[in-house]
Amino acid sequence: MSEKELINDEKIKLEDVKPDKTLRILTGDRPTGKMHIGHYFGSLKSRVALQDKFQTFIEVADVQALTDNFNNPDKVKKSVNQIVMDELAVGLDPNKVTFFIQSLIPEIAELTVFYSNLVTIARLERNPTVKTEIAQKKDLFGESVTYGFLGYPVSQAADITCFDATYVPVGEDQLPLIEQCREIVRKFNSIYGDTLREPVAVMSSNMRIKGLDGNVKMGKSLGNALYLSDDLDTIKQKVMSAVTDPSRIRKDDKGNPDICMVYYYHNLFTDKEECKNICEECKAGKRGCVACKKQLIESINKVLEPIRDKRKHYEENPKEVMDILMAGTDKARVIAKETMEKVKKSMKLDY
Ligand code: TRP
Ligand code: SF4
Repeated sequence: MSEKELINDEKIKLEDVKPDKTLRILTGDRPTGKMHIGHYFGSLKSRVALQDKFQTFIEVADVQALTDNFNNPDKVKKSVNQIVMDELAVGLDPNKVTFFIQSLIPEIAELTVFYSNLVTIARLERNPTVKTEIAQKKDLFGESVTYGFLGYPVSQAADITCFDATYVPVGEDQLPLIEQCREIVRKFNSIYGDTLREPVAVMSSNMRIKGLDGNVKMGKSLGNALYLSDDLDTIKQKVMSAVTDPSRIRKDDKGNPDICMVYYYHNLFTDKEECKNICEECKAGKRGCVACKKQLIESINKVLEPIRDKRKHYEENPKEVMDILMAGTDKARVIAKETMEKVKKSMKLDY
């Protein structure tokens, strides 16, 4: 497939992108807490694969994080280092990836203002992602959502276009934001002349990992998440309290692995052959839940141990993390300034 053909598509799959080091990908995270294994399977793993195929830019979206955490700046500040440590720990290489901090790139804020003329309130209110989030945040927003939160898709369009990104690797929930970005780009180009690149969403993974309690969402507030930084004792304690088939009381009761979260997690962390074995033994009543959980703890630890060790290095050397962020921000800023110059020229703001 040629680049032109791809660009006409709304989204493409990770397997279908042709490696090209002249092209840039951009993605971002809101710094609102440490990352869990949902992030690992949902996006981090594919980012590690992508870093060898494209110029990879990862934004620590602190300004966006404030749109729904404006009353908690400490949380956002503390999380900046934490998420970058998580990313480095899973194998994102600072020599290949440019990590930068959103608030240190004022051009993004400037672009957001320019783009805000090209989007209607009604269109923002119709954005399915924003709509869902507003409904979930009734406690924070009460009767009326803030201007900043309603407008964050505009700011995210600025994130992406500021760096002339071709591809944006995201999960399904983010697709409406990329679509909105593409609309803004088309509108900008049609009014001010061909200036901006229309980005393409790359579906990083459809995997949405359930929490240890079986909840479809995993998160801190739900208390059902396994964090990349969890130590062995924490993993043990979380797995031991995971939800199994409730009808199994004695070891020889026949079980149903399909309703058991321990089995669900075995499928993520234990090799396929062994999973088959677990399934058969459980169904035949030949497997105890406690032993099954202990085996899972080992499988999980095998994956998380090297990540935890690598993370430890950065935890002990926070300056190294800050240096990576600052060097990346400097590099990103150069590109942002180039974009801003082009944008201002097109908009006749080049005094
Ligand atoms: N909205 C994204 C999320 O909540 C984070 C994000 C900010 C982002 N800027 C971005 C994602 C730019 C892709 C591109 O996960
Ligand atoms: Fe779940 Fe394993 Fe118990 Fe079966 S034996 S119910 S798979 S924990």
